[in-house]
Amino acid sequence: MQRNLARRDSAAALSDAREVGELYRLMQDYFTQRGDATEAVKLASAGAALADDVIKSLRSNDLDTASVSAISIARGCRDCHVKYKPLDP
Ligand code: HEC
Repeated sequence: MQRNLARRDSAAALSDAREVGELYRLMQDYFTQRGDATEAVKLASAGAALADDVIKSLRSNDLDTASVSAISIARGCRDCHVKYKPLDP
């Protein structure tokens, strides 16, 4: 998504943002059902909201704001992995 934003290809970035949003909603459901991962539920729902922000910004042709939100999504990956996903396989 960040690559498409950098290329200023908003159609491709829009479809990326939709996919990311769906993914985060699935994660949110997953962690909600798991029951012992409040922080992960919060991070997943924040990610879904950020994906919505990207979509909104792209619709109003504001690629700069879209990029800021996309970068925040990427930061959220790390936050959740640090806590919920051991880095070493
Ligand atoms: C809400 C928490 C959370 C967020 C946010 C999150 N992940 Fe994950 N991710 C996980 C967990 C937990 C696993 C491990 C799932 C498992 O092993 O069943 C995982 C697994 C992965 C894997 C598979 C790695 C492997 O070793 O199998 C990749 C790749 C990955 N995540 C990428 C990302 C990226 C890129 C983002 C940001 C766009 C992201 N994740 C955001 C929790 C999260």
